[in-house]
Amino acid sequence: MKAHAPLGSVVATLNIANGLPNEHYVDPGVFAEEKRSVLFANWSGVGFGKDVPEAGDARPVEFLGMPLLIVRDRDGSIGVFQNTCRHRGMILVAAPTKIRGAIRCPYHSWCYGLNGELRTTPHVGGPGRNTHPDVNMAELGLIRIRSHVWRDVIFVNVDGRAPAFEEVHAELLERWKEFDQELHPGGETSSFKLDVKTNWKLAVENYCESYHLPWVHPGLNSYSRLEDHYNIEVPGHFSGQGTLVYRQLKDEDGAVMPDFAGLSEKWNEGAEYVALYPNVLLGVQRDHAFAIVLEPVDCERTIEHIELYYAIDAAKTPEFDKLRSENARLWMAVFDEDVFVVEGMQKGRHGEFFDGGRFSPVMDGPTQNFHHWVASQVEKGRAG
Ligand code: FES
Ligand SMILES: [Fe+2]
Repeated sequence: MKAHAPLGSVVATLNIANGLPNEHYVDPGVFAEEKRSVLFANWSGVGFGKDVPEAGDARPVEFLGMPLLIVRDRDGSIGVFQNTCRHRGMILVAAPTKIRGAIRCPYHSWCYGLNGELRTTPHVGGPGRNTHPDVNMAELGLIRIRSHVWRDVIFVNVDGRAPAFEEVHAELLERWKEFDQELHPGGETSSFKLDVKTNWKLAVENYCESYHLPWVHPGLNSYSRLEDHYNIEVPGHFSGQGTLVYRQLKDEDGAVMPDFAGLSEKWNEGAEYVALYPNVLLGVQRDHAFAIVLEPVDCERTIEHIELYYAIDAAKTPEFDKLRSENARLWMAVFDEDVFVVEGMQKGRHGEFFDGGRFSPVMDGPTQNFHHWVASQVEKGRAG
């Protein structure tokens, strides 16, 4: 087996640390390793509740090659299952659908309830005999993947061994508890994807920092300058940035979108942008929020799934349609401006003499916090 690049300088303190070595961005072997030690071992985002709005809605997703099925049950809860039939391993649901009755395998028609229980096994005991004493239906339900929904993001812990979501993310839950209220998806214009030629970690790293604002987002920087930002760093859990000068979008008559209820003064002009490790990027502002789920397709390709949310129901407030689409357009432009840097950093990591880089001791704390966390997760995995 090829020796791995050492990670000692990555878990060093900020002022002297290096970033993760190139192999963490360009080597499919290390990608496969991080799939287990970083993404399957923690709470990773795989989708949004808004995509399964009603009971019976089922949506297949692939997460790092793993076929998953997201299902909205009749009690409103969301379950995630391995999308593989317990009989001969057929993929159960191939495209988003509404389940009426049961989840029926297209191969031999074994049927499962929305809660994953195996319900019927036609002719399993021979023609006309739908049971067999050796096929114990109670043991053959769909494999449930541990999941948790927060801020409409569906998180899964594939290996089932992480501490509870509320425990892992207690600090962010507390920090943003004022925003713990109903989120309304903004409709069609508020939902978009970016297919980016980069390793998923570079999208996290770029999101964490405000250092690049003056050069990559000159428009944003004209009113939200470097000095109006602060770093957010919680070792082992999340990092990002906050701004002190968030300005609400106004239409030509000066109207603004309604705020989330009961926010404290801090949020009048404050907004925060946080990467929740490993792969979910979140933003909160007084009148809207967003969530980005990074789908690592392969070592050098990532799909960013972006959703904007509001305090008010889009279907009942057409008067704000224009502001919602304008807001989406502005964010899309900002996220788009970041594409060339995450793709450029990816290309840069094919430079064989790159040593992971160095950090600004003042500006890059949130980014280094993430590197440190990834390196410790990988080391934990290597230690077994
Ligand atoms: S593989 Fe699903 S019923 Fe046979
Ligand atoms: Fe950016």
